Amino acid sequence: MCIFAYGSAHPGPEMNMIKRKSNFSLKEMNTFRMDVKCRQYIEYDSVADLIDIDFEKLPTPVLNLGQGSNILFTGDFPGTILWSRIDFIHELPAEDGLYCGMPDGTVLISVGAGTEMDKVCGWAAEKGLWGMENLSHIPGDAGAAAVQNIGAYGTEFSDATVMIYCYDTEEEEFTHFRAEECGYGYRDSVFKHPGFKGRYIVTHSVLALSTDRGPQLGYGHVEEAVMQAAGGKQITPAVVREVITGIRRAKLPEPSETGSAGSFFKNPIISEDRFNEIRRRYSMEIPHYPAEEGIKIPAAWLIEQCGWKGKTVGNAGVHPAQPLVLTNATGKASPGEIIKLKDLIIKSVQDKFGIMLIPEVEII
Ligand code: EPU
Repeated sequence: MCIFAYGSAHPGPEMNMIKRKSNFSLKEMNTFRMDVKCRQYIEYDSVADLIDIDFEKLPTPVLNLGQGSNILFTGDFPGTILWSRIDFIHELPAEDGLYCGMPDGTVLISVGAGTEMDKVCGWAAEKGLWGMENLSHIPGDAGAAAVQNIGAYGTEFSDATVMIYCYDTEEEEFTHFRAEECGYGYRDSVFKHPGFKGRYIVTHSVLALSTDRGPQLGYGHVEEAVMQAAGGKQITPAVVREVITGIRRAKLPEPSETGSAGSFFKNPIISEDRFNEIRRRYSMEIPHYPAEEGIKIPAAWLIEQCGWKGKTVGNAGVHPAQPLVLTNATGKASPGEIIKLKDLIIKSVQDKFGIMLIPEVEII
């Protein structure tokens, strides 16, 4: 059965399954594999379930968790963890009003917040649809992707976003935000900010894919690798997906083997004056990219320059192939060890370059 209530454009099975647990271990629910507990845990698998949860009575704070792939728990969580298993991918029918004004070749899909992002990317590639292929192999669910505005290889989640559907826990009603109302920026959205955070729970998103758009290969050596993989044949979303997956596998730790939360820091953006000053001081070539408010410098490069690449401190490590990623190197790292390593790295980058690294990972 499909429901079209609770706003629109979000079909999904109405199974009403809510599981509740107390003092629940979150070890399997965060990719850093931190062994912490939450006071209450609620798992739900349909949009309708949210109506049955009495948010006023839940132990606070309330945190909606996807796969916990961008989070560092610093200790037991005193409130409620909500885990969305709203898992569906559904193509919107051609007569849906959201197609109005969309370019030819657009295919709109509705994706449940608890759907794995890589499943969405695989689904799109299999159907020959462009738009998700560069986001392949990023851990985490589509709901978190909408909040975090995940990005890789020149594509951000927001590039495809048409509408984000949410449950408003204060008004206890369903609502939605058009892409331009979501305040999307580099790893940023309104959903991360006061007034929205904790109030709105993403239930599903409508994304625009395309049969026509073609590949986006402008980032680094992606074009070269894709050309090689295609071997003179047509470049398809599936070919790009395979190449991106390969690049990520080579650079980033496999979540099933080594705990991490992907990039730990954001790439800092500094003013052009500041950039020129640093370049003069060190008389060295610094990798950089133009950004909206200045110049973006890869945090990986700054961290490597400070000698951290491949280093470990206790059980916490700096990934040898991509120093932007901090790891639970031995599987036994405590939150304190990761925090200590983070602080040491921030200090050394600050001391050497006068640049303050800001964590991308949510530290709770
Ligand atoms: N670099 C080094 N040493 C290294 C690795 C990289 O100096 O060992 C420098 C190089 O100059 C390289 C540059 O860093 O050209 C960029 O490296 P990379 O392409 O690996 O990307 P990144 O900027 O480090 C960002 C995202 C990643 C995303 C990649 C690819 C952030 C915080 N991270 O990393 O996203 O996969 O670009 O688009 O923006 C994540 O958010 O968890 C994540 C993995």
